Amino acid sequence: MQKTEIIEFLQGKDDNWLFNEADRIRRAVFGDEIYLRGIIEFTNYCRQNCYYCGLRRSNRAVQRYRLSHEEIIAAVETAANEKIPTIVLQGGEDPYYSAEWIADLIRKIIDKYDLAITLSLGEQTPEVLQLWRKAGATRYLLRIETWNRENYGSLRPGKRWEDRLNCLKVLRELDYEVGSGIMVGLPGETLATLADAIIGLTELDLDMIGIGPFLAHPQTPLKDKPNGSIQLTLRTLALVRILNPYANMPSTSAMECAEKGARLAALKIGMNVIMPSITPERVKLLYNIYPGKNADSDASEHSIPAVLEIIREAGFHRSLSKGISPNLIRRHESQNILSK
Ligand code: 5AD
Ligand code: SF4
Repeated sequence: MQKTEIIEFLQGKDDNWLFNEADRIRRAVFGDEIYLRGIIEFTNYCRQNCYYCGLRRSNRAVQRYRLSHEEIIAAVETAANEKIPTIVLQGGEDPYYSAEWIADLIRKIIDKYDLAITLSLGEQTPEVLQLWRKAGATRYLLRIETWNRENYGSLRPGKRWEDRLNCLKVLRELDYEVGSGIMVGLPGETLATLADAIIGLTELDLDMIGIGPFLAHPQTPLKDKPNGSIQLTLRTLALVRILNPYANMPSTSAMECAEKGARLAALKIGMNVIMPSITPERVKLLYNIYPGKNADSDASEHSIPAVLEIIREAGFHRSLSKGISPNLIRRHESQNILSK
């Protein structure tokens, strides 16, 4: 698909075709199954100061927390009991935890449970990423956030777009399943930069792609900016699905926070993953990246029973498989052929 055609679809040229085609492709690859990932948000401290994020270090209004190994493993136990075969360990970039502390946690989990471990712990050095890979983590999520490179440094002070891209390449070399993605509707985005993102993410040949709308957080410098549009996010998701048939793609919590029912809508237009929060209740409300995240009037919206209900309503079935990326399987197969 050419950039001009992508822009036309983003403008609403033919939603009917777009959404049906995305659903058709998703069914051809994944049938009617949805993969579950339990997410444990184990620290809300962060050394970064991203303009869009409620956990940015300059936000003094947040009550900060850190979980211990024991608390994290208790959450993992919940996932295991609920037959959720993948967990995601996510946190702000919190220097308090050493790389070895995380490696140790990964080993403890793998020793005891038959689970896939995904990490979402920000930009790290190749050495650290390798340590965690060797400890047994097999997947890593690192959103590139935007394709507006010029704007990147003003949204993420002191950070460079190229470094983030490079980190994704390192993850691939270390044989992680690699996930990335963007927010739709960040200040500075145009339909052209959004189309560039759709093309750019596709060229990265990702195993996982997570996309949600930007939601203005009241305790950030972007508090007065408009939220990303749900309709534009749905179009973006459908286009990315069509161009990436084999990628695992979640229907994100940000969708639901933006508009009730939007997470269900995303499942119907090609998304095949959903990520309930299994963060302990004691701290769940404090992981407030964007408004509504774990802190809605009804925090249970992101709980396991709630997502099972959404899957049922959408007419799909939960999968009990770890849900390895079909893209990774294809990549390994072609490497085997080449080495023969
Ligand atoms: N609105 C929506 N998504 C956000 N994220 C961070 N801040 C916001 C916001 N205000 C997303 C980023 C990050 C992920 C963990 O949460 O894309 O990578
Ligand atoms: Fe930290 Fe991530 Fe929030 Fe940026 S988006 S401030 S890196 S938690």
